Amino acid sequence: MKIFLDTAKVSDIKKWSDTGIIDGVTTNPSHLSKEGGDPVKVIKDIMNLLPSGEISVEVTEKEPQAVYDQAKKIAALGPNILVKIPCTEEYYPIIQKLVAEQVKLNITLVFTLIQSLFMSKLGVTYISPFIGRLADIDEDGISMLHEIKYMKDSYGFSTGILAASLRTVEHLHEAIEAGVDVATVSTDILEKATKHPLTKQGIKQFDEDWKKLGIKQFP
Ligand code: E4P
Repeated sequence: MKIFLDTAKVSDIKKWSDTGIIDGVTTNPSHLSKEGGDPVKVIKDIMNLLPSGEISVEVTEKEPQAVYDQAKKIAALGPNILVKIPCTEEYYPIIQKLVAEQVKLNITLVFTLIQSLFMSKLGVTYISPFIGRLADIDEDGISMLHEIKYMKDSYGFSTGILAASLRTVEHLHEAIEAGVDVATVSTDILEKATKHPLTKQGIKQFDEDWKKLGIKQFP
């Protein structure tokens, strides 16, 4: 299973790339806008930090032909780039075309099992079901992840399930339990997920007991 960082903040990506835990990054227009400056430079900095990681970059155009042209330009930034395209019907023809042209796509803003099936049929690299935004409208995104996983395995689709919009460590836990291929998480969630109070407490206890031996060098 892969873990992606859901941010465009280069310093955070640097910190987490050094840990070996993250396999890629999902940016979006909101993340890039928050960082300011030239978004192409930010994307290139991220690519340099994770030369073999998977970096998602979202289209900003609206009209299908313009989305297609922009997707090609984004994909040309590097071999490890995935182009994020929103899951709407008007883009189905260009999604099909881009897949045929071997452009790696991460279909974003996925909210139903059926949208997931349609995108899997088109052979995209990833679908991104948005769990937190479903929770915002009192819908159970985690159950949907299980349904998508069942659909994927039943029909043998190769499209990866990328759990997105995860808002809590519990969401991450449940996404892992659902057997997703990737979970993308904020640095805040990742930070919290590394910790357990008993780990710190255990270290302290071992340290106190060790000191009772009174030896200076070991081994
Ligand atoms: C994923 O690719 C998206 O960037 C992200 O998970 C959206 O999360 P949000 O609903 O918290 O904005």
